[in-house]
Amino acid sequence: MLPRSILAGCGGYLPERIVTNDELSRTVDTSDEWIRDRTGIRQRHFASKHETTAFMGTAAARAALADAGATAADVDAIILATSTPDQAFPATALRVQAELGVTKGFGFDLSAACAGFIYGLSVADGMIRSGQARGVLVIGSEVYSRILNWQDRGTCVLFGDGAGAVFVRAANAEDDDRRGVLSTHIHAQGTLGDILYVDGAVGQPDKPGHLVMHGREVFRHAVTRLAEAVEEALAANGMTHADIDWLVPHQANRRIIDAMGKKLGLPPERVVVTVDRHANTSAASVPLALAEARADGRIKSGDLVLLEALGGGLTWGSALVRL
Ligand code: COA
Repeated sequence: MLPRSILAGCGGYLPERIVTNDELSRTVDTSDEWIRDRTGIRQRHFASKHETTAFMGTAAARAALADAGATAADVDAIILATSTPDQAFPATALRVQAELGVTKGFGFDLSAACAGFIYGLSVADGMIRSGQARGVLVIGSEVYSRILNWQDRGTCVLFGDGAGAVFVRAANAEDDDRRGVLSTHIHAQGTLGDILYVDGAVGQPDKPGHLVMHGREVFRHAVTRLAEAVEEALAANGMTHADIDWLVPHQANRRIIDAMGKKLGLPPERVVVTVDRHANTSAASVPLALAEARADGRIKSGDLVLLEALGGGLTWGSALVRL
């Protein structure tokens, strides 16, 4: 029988520098009140020069391996989800591979914006189930502060930097057979590419690119698509809302998170929220939130956790995991 994959450990890294809404409002025409009311964000972390995507991804990966009781020798593959790679190539995943001292297997970067971690987990799960890999690091690492347009107050107040990671491994004989990644579902709709995008890239002369977002439209799609993704995950597993112990949603906006929690009938204390302190860290947001709730003891082994995210592309998806 082919193995299931077990989410064996998680970890995160946040840059040292914290920037509050009040600090931001000294240089941007905004206010703490507006940002809090519309998004729930109070502060975010911004990377300094040495805190690159690879640096933060490596720190998060080390923490995930330590949490799993694993070492670099257990890693066959590294999937790093990011929209802000350090270089066009080599893949940031391979900078992490070198830093960790992993000397076998393969690695690559994955571009699916804020849904990148869910995409990465889906790919890792497929590789483990097919026997292509036995131990996979899935990392989300982002430095959005380097692609924000500081003249656009509608977007620059919403994002932060950071990294989160999980170590996923093939189940072995000692594992409880109810444990593991039960399902992943990923989706995309390229026709909606112009509601949230970066208007440049390394390949475009003199245009490194800034983030552009039509917030209201993204909001509308987020609420609909994420609700569908949740129902799809539950139906695929023959489960209902009542089976879910924890929702770990993408951390873009408190109002979207609250709406999802309500739809699932979950009390607020069963929904992990970090957007108030981290803002939107894109591909890093779900693994960072998961790592926080694991580390402080809220999410326990055996709990059923629903992960979901939506991002530019549009991309979206869900994962149902028993820890
Ligand atoms: N500070 C103060 N005022 C601001 C502001 C800021 N940072 N940003 C925008 N405003 C103003 C606008 O200029 C506008 O003023 P006007 O009515 O005088 O023209 C007003 O606030 C409303 O702007 P709008 O963009 O329509 O606000 P909104 O209610 O749609 O909220 C978002 C904006 C971004 C918070 C909201 O659309 C959202 O959360 N969208 C989804 C974002 C998301 O999930 N993205 C990530 C997916 S990965």
